[in-house]
Formats: sequence, C-alpha cells, structure tokens
Amino acid sequence: MNIKNKTILITGGGSGIGFEIAKLLSAENKVIIVGRNKLRLDKAVANLPNVIAISADITNEKDINDLVDEINNNHSDLSILINNAGFGYSYIFSESSDTYTKALSEFTTNYFAPIRLTEKLLPVLKKQSEAAIVNVTSIVAFTPNETIPTYSDSKAAFHSYTQVLRHTLSKNTNIKVFDLMPPLVDTELTAEIGGKEHGMPAGDVAKSLIDSLKEDVYEIHVGQTEGFYNGFFASSKAAFETMNQG
Ligand SMILES: NC(=O)c1ccc[n+]([C@@H]2O[C@H](COP(=O)([O-])OP(=O)(O)OC[C@H]3O[C@@H](n4cnc5c(N)ncnc54)[C@H](OP(=O)(O)O)[C@@H]3O)[C@@H](O)[C@H]2O)c1
Repeated sequence: MNIKNKTILITGGGSGIGFEIAKLLSAENKVIIVGRNKLRLDKAVANLPNVIAISADITNEKDINDLVDEINNNHSDLSILINNAGFGYSYIFSESSDTYTKALSEFTTNYFAPIRLTEKLLPVLKKQSEAAIVNVTSIVAFTPNETIPTYSDSKAAFHSYTQVLRHTLSKNTNIKVFDLMPPLVDTELTAEIGGKEHGMPAGDVAKSLIDSLKEDVYEIHVGQTEGFYNGFFASSKAAFETMNQG
C-alpha cells in the first residue's frame, strides 16, 4: 500500500518499537502517538517532525472515547491504525500466586483494549480510499514461552483475532490488516528477560514493517520469527521445546 501523506495513529508510539515506527513514518506522514506517560510523549514530539501526541490509557473507556472524538473531529483522514501498545509480566506458574490478576491485566491491555479501539475507529477507516490496521503480536503467538506465560496467551489471542479481522474486512472494505510478529527485541519491555543482550534493535523491526506495508505482506515474520514459524508448522512439539529450552 501507499504510505505517503497519510494520517497514522500509533498506540505506544512514545517508546521502543512504536517510537521507531513513528520515526520512520513521520518523514512522509502525519503521525499521532498515544501513551500514558506525557513526558515520554513530549520528548518524542520534540525529536520527530510531523508528530503530535495524545495522552490516553488504552484500557480506560473514557480516554478511548475522548481519543476517538478527537480523531473524528480533527483527524478524520485517519487511514492507518497501529495497535502497538502492550506489556507483559515475566514469571513462572509454579512460583506465582497471582496468575489470574496478571493474566487479566495483560489481556486487558494486549487484547481487549485494541479490540475496543479498532471497533470504534472502523467507521473512520472505512471512509478512506485505502486504509490499514497493524496489530503488533509476537513470535510467542505461535508457541508460548514459560517465562512470559500469560503474555504469550494474550498475543496468541490477539493473533487469532487479527486473522479473522483480516479475512472479514478483505471481503467488503478497503482496510488491509497486518500482523507484525517480532522476536525478542531490545526495548524497556524486555529488560528483565535478556532483551539488551539477545534482542534485535527496535529500528530493524520498524524497517521490516515499512517494507511489508509497501509490499502488502500481511503476516510479518520479523527476523527469527520466520524460521520459528516454519519450524512450528513442521512440528509444533519441537517448536515448543526450542522456545522453552534451557
Ligand atoms: N520487545 C519485544 O521483544 C517484543 C517482541 C514481540 C512483540 N512486542 C510487542 O511490541 C509492542 C511494543 O512493545 P515494546 O517492546 O516497544 O515495549 P515498550 O518500549 O515498553 O513500549 C510499550 C509502549 O506501550 C505503551 N503502553 C503500555 N500500556 C499502555 C496503556 N495502557 N495505554 C497506552 N499506552 C500503553 C507504553 O507507553 P506508556 O507507558 O507511556 O503508556 C509504551 O510506549 C508491544 O505490544 C509488545 O508486546 C515486543
């Protein structure tokens, strides 16, 4: 698809992968970044051209209603929604006494919040001649990792949602649905699980997204995710063991 002169909304655009995507897209598009931490958003706006920030917690219904009103009133040419905001807990089931609370919180941010935002922005996206939704899932959508167990579940659910959304919208709308599936990336999110030592740079993930948007590659297996994806379909048991070795 064409990614010039568009209006693009990126949740979690103030840091990590979202910031790197904003950096690449803001050269030729208007980019709206969304997050809770205003200082972080302001810093991103100061460092990038054509970027504006809107503070919102994507899990908060009032924040989302205000955000959608702002888009409808002042950015009604929105044509790309990037559901990037997310987080997860690192823990293992055998040593946790609050798995339910952690899972609920992860699913609220990583699954329910983007579903609500997508639903509320579908009317404006449908009005554009060409539009897109990008959902950021993960390599662990294919196979869970035992150190981020319920985060993995939330990404599997989001990946499943994304597949059906793509299939449905392709029938009678101009909205293309992309699924960005990174492996381990060096961001704040992965500081505790070896992202700094073993993660790929967030800028490379953003570059992969831009290339895939231009070429209409809908399921984007970034870096190691491609080999893992192929291995998963050869043997899901072997893929699970590879994901959880050591
Ligand atoms: N890093 C990896 O290895 C990796 C791999 C695969 C997939 N991913 C996915 O990539 C996406 C980006 O993660 P990242 O690695 O770039 O982590 P990050 O640097 O921690 O960025 C996460 C962003 O999400 C925002 N956010 C979190 N909860 C929010 C909420 N309730 N409302 C609004 N914004 C919220 C944060 O902003 P505020 O704190 O300001 O709200 C932050 O800017 C996530 O969906 C993550 O699951 C990451």
